[in-house]
Amino acid sequence: MNEQETIQPAESRWIGTANHGFAAYAQEELKRAFGSVKSSVLVPGEVLLLTLPADAEQVLHRLQAQPLMFLRHIQPVRYDLVLEQLTEQEQQPLDALAALLLKREELYGKTIALQVRKTGDAETDDSNASELRHQLEERLAELHAEFTVQQPELIVSVLWTADRLYAGISKPEDNLSDWNGGAIRFQREEGQISRAKFKLLEAEKVFGIDFTAFRRALDVGAAPGGWTSFLLERGLQVTAVDPAKMHPSLQNHPQLKTVRRNAADVKFSAGEFDLLVCDMSWSPKLTARLVIDLLDAVQPGGTVIVTVKLMHKKPLAVIREVMESFEEARLQIQRAKQLFHNRDEITLYMVKY
Ligand SMILES: C[S@@+](CC[C@H](N)C(=O)[O-])C[C@H]1O[C@@H](n2cnc3c(N)ncnc32)[C@H](O)[C@@H]1O
Repeated sequence: MNEQETIQPAESRWIGTANHGFAAYAQEELKRAFGSVKSSVLVPGEVLLLTLPADAEQVLHRLQAQPLMFLRHIQPVRYDLVLEQLTEQEQQPLDALAALLLKREELYGKTIALQVRKTGDAETDDSNASELRHQLEERLAELHAEFTVQQPELIVSVLWTADRLYAGISKPEDNLSDWNGGAIRFQREEGQISRAKFKLLEAEKVFGIDFTAFRRALDVGAAPGGWTSFLLERGLQVTAVDPAKMHPSLQNHPQLKTVRRNAADVKFSAGEFDLLVCDMSWSPKLTARLVIDLLDAVQPGGTVIVTVKLMHKKPLAVIREVMESFEEARLQIQRAKQLFHNRDEITLYMVKY
């Protein structure tokens, strides 16, 4: 075979983001999914520049078919501008990027979200990411696009680092999250009981769970009551189990029954609940044991949502083991994901069969 006939294997470049401290696990998962991954660190523990051995379409297809737990967000790298070279040519980085984007016919007349991030060491004359976004928007006026945050047709993702400006164009569903860098922000409500509530709000959004469709929920490890208050707001009857006290604002709620005991010591009737949630921040194996022992109380077809704490040693192996024990207990895992609001844990969304 002569050289011209050699088929170059497809490759594509991306920026991948994980929760802070978890990029190495995202990288490990990518390696398992794609065989080999070339990567360099853009933000330690969090943001990676990736070269994957497949074209963009294949990458997206595989990530959709088999979602990864730790990869929170991905954006294509179409433009990679070297800032030093631009300085030598006396070009402003945003002018150079705008000139390239104005050549993209697919952007004209569209609703577009400009998502700009910068690393801590980026030299951007004190402009923050939101100011940079405005400055880029002004330079793109000729596109006659509608710049929006919600439900755009296309996302232009930009990452400004110490020495480069990376940018790519994608459909929102192809970034794994339509939020900038996958950082979902919820407004803190007045009187909100705990930040833990954000985890369930995010699970609702990311996993597409309709909580109003459930009737009776068991909340295990419920205090102080962030998750319980969320479930009550969705119209459910809730039984909250925790030896600790629930927040005073939940006292005497007509839809709430509190059981101030260790969950290992309580028993319920078979099929009493169509939803079980558990957020105990406890050893993963003990949490799994405790939830499995309570599964009789969940109807077949019922939903089970559990946060699993990641231990320092071999978290991927621990999660695999915990997931296997749930599967053996007749739970079908719908999704396993580290949500933006999870700290050192992942959330499992499962259905009992
Ligand atoms: C992280 S907090 C839960 C926060 C809650 N999801 C919220 O939204 O407010 C963990 C809770 O699990 C409870 N817990 C730990 N072990 C338990 C057990 N064996 N049985 C019942 N509750 C337990 C603790 O008392 C603690 O209140």
